[in-house]
Order: sequence, then C-alpha cells, then structure tokens
Amino acid sequence: MVLSTEDIMQISLDLVGWDEVPADSGIHVRADAVETALVGIDLESPEIQLAEREGYDLVLAHHPPGGDPRVNFAPVLDRQVEFMTAHGVPEERAEAAVADLRSRMEHAGHSANYRHDPSIAEHLDQPYMNVHLAPDEIGRRRFREVADELADDATVGEFADALDEIPEIEEALTDAELRLGHRDNDLGEVAIHHAAGTNGGSEVASAYFDNGVDTVLYIHIGSGDTATLQEEYGGEGTNLVVTGHIASDAIGVNEFIDALEAEGLECDTVSGCDIGR
Ligand SMILES: [Fe+2]
Ligand SMILES: [Fe+2]
Repeated sequence: MVLSTEDIMQISLDLVGWDEVPADSGIHVRADAVETALVGIDLESPEIQLAEREGYDLVLAHHPPGGDPRVNFAPVLDRQVEFMTAHGVPEERAEAAVADLRSRMEHAGHSANYRHDPSIAEHLDQPYMNVHLAPDEIGRRRFREVADELADDATVGEFADALDEIPEIEEALTDAELRLGHRDNDLGEVAIHHAAGTNGGSEVASAYFDNGVDTVLYIHIGSGDTATLQEEYGGEGTNLVVTGHIASDAIGVNEFIDALEAEGLECDTVSGCDIGR
C-alpha cells in the first residue's frame, strides 16, 4: 500500500487508539504517495533541504517546527491537568500548577516564526509533517509498564535501573537520572508525567508530591526547577526520575517507525531517531 501523509498520521493515531489529530501534530506539506521518509526528532530547514537533495518523499519530524502545531500547541497541556487529577491532585491545584506553563507556551507560539521551516518545505515542494503527542503517548505507556512490573516494595534505584534497560535508554549517552531523592527511597506511588506537551517543571511535581505521589517521572527538566524542588523537598521520600529527552522521545517514535515500515514505508533515521535502531 502506498501511503499518503494523512495515512501516516492515521497510523500514529491507531497505535494509541485516538480519533483526532492532536494540536501539536500536523501536515505542513502534504503528499499522496510516500515511499521513503527521512525521520528525526528535530528536522528543520537544513534537513528539509538535505531530504530534497537526496530525493526523500517525506520529511517526518517529531517536535513541532511551525504552523498550527507550533502556534496552537497549548491545548495539549490539558493533559498535564488530566494526569495530575488522575493521581488525586485537586483540579484547582492542578490548573494552578500549569497556569504559568500554559502562558509561557502560548507566548512562545505567538512570538515564534511559525512560517520558517514550513515555508522552506513549500518553496522546495518537499512533503513535510510532524507527529508529536501520539509517539510520546507510546513512550508514556512503556514507562507505566516498567513501573507496574516492579514489586510493591521496590526502590527508586530499582526503577531507574529498569528504565535503563529500555533499549533506547540503554543505548543513549544519557541515563535515567535521579534529580530528587535517593536510590534506596521507596518507589511508592509513581506518576508518569510524559506525553503532555512538555514537562511540568517544579510546580507540577510539587502538586503531585503534596497529594501523596512519591515518585514523579519526567523525560527532562531544567536545572532551575531541580534546584527549587531540592530546596522544597530535599529528597526525603520524594523522588524525581528523569529519563533523558531524546532517548525517551525515540522510544515512541521507534515504535511508530516500525509500524510505518510494516506498511512498506522505507525510513532512514537521523536526529535522535537513530537511537535504538
Ligand atoms: Fe516527545
Ligand atoms: Fe521532545
């Protein structure tokens, strides 16, 4: 079967059982017949030119480079609130924890040159799309499985070690890091806070900790947020595990690539999607 860009988007949705294209994913230049794709976490103007020069039918990126997925990214942050309330964080506290992030993402989308990369693809007639939330959801479910498979009295160290055995994390230069807490702390209740647009920073982690969650998993966090959490909680019974940004993104995208290859699409991987393949 020859895939269109819309078919490729649909395959990503089918992998997680969703009906609607998330706000952070989109087709910037569409195509009817895609047989070869250059796939990467970040594929922008230089890589679009590379793909065009080398004759790829499609440039398939993970992170939203422009267009609607960049400008109107903020709605995917609703999942931050969903994840928190599922762990017993009161709705009001969850909304408050994510208010600043919503504002920052909305401002960033509003100020970005959202035309930059898509306009280069249009100029070259190079089909171009990005698929963000669905692969991240695949990664989130994988992390959940790893947590659920551990014994009830597991430690955070054992959790980090089990995460390090995921092939992408094992192969990557980055390891699962404990930004808050000690390896021999009880793992306790684990919130997998991934596939919600971006990490929730110190405020979302605090909302979890203040409502009975012992361990939070992010795929990345800034040093300022780590410092804030260290100061507030000091690691006594509260834990933050960070799995590594690109290795973690590669987990979901790799499963997506496998599904595309099963449909006959030939994929070459760069920019982080080459990890674990
Ligand atoms: Fe991601
Ligand atoms: Fe990412």
